[in-house]
Amino acid sequence: LNHKFEYINSELKEIKKYSLYRKMHDSKIAGAYITVNSKTLINLCSNDYLGIAQPKLSNKQNQSSSRLVSGNDSSFRILEEKLAKHKSQESSLIFPTGYMTNLGVISSLVRKNDLVLSDKLNHASLIEACKLSKAKISILNTSI
Ligand SMILES: Cc1ncc(COP(=O)(O)O)c(C=O)c1O
Repeated sequence: LNHKFEYINSELKEIKKYSLYRKMHDSKIAGAYITVNSKTLINLCSNDYLGIAQPKLSNKQNQSSSRLVSGNDSSFRILEEKLAKHKSQESSLIFPTGYMTNLGVISSLVRKNDLVLSDKLNHASLIEACKLSKAKISILNTSI
């Protein structure tokens, strides 16, 4: 299986070479402030302009913009570590919906010159993800 995904390592190397590698860092958001590496700063990378993402849930989890932009609430990291351990995997990644999972995973793994054999009745998220990948798509009718 590893050799099939060797291109991922080479792409990652290229991305790192140009300092374009993005990594999530833990942060804690409280109202207009964000704490990163023990420093509390005014959060100017929030998309929560109206302040409606205030923590109302008992776990006090708050994410005012993308995890890559405003930092990663540690509760996500902890859950992902637990899920990875539970599934005996190196790591895991939580997506907010099934739609976003298909879009994110397929458009990342499938490349322009790949061939995708896609069932005619596939979910819209799979169809859109394949389109995003720019791969060749062959529609199959596997329904009985
Ligand atoms: C195969 C498949 N993929 C993706 C989705 C979308 O999931 P979500 O509603 O969590 O975005 C669905 C929803 O029914 C589905 O059946």
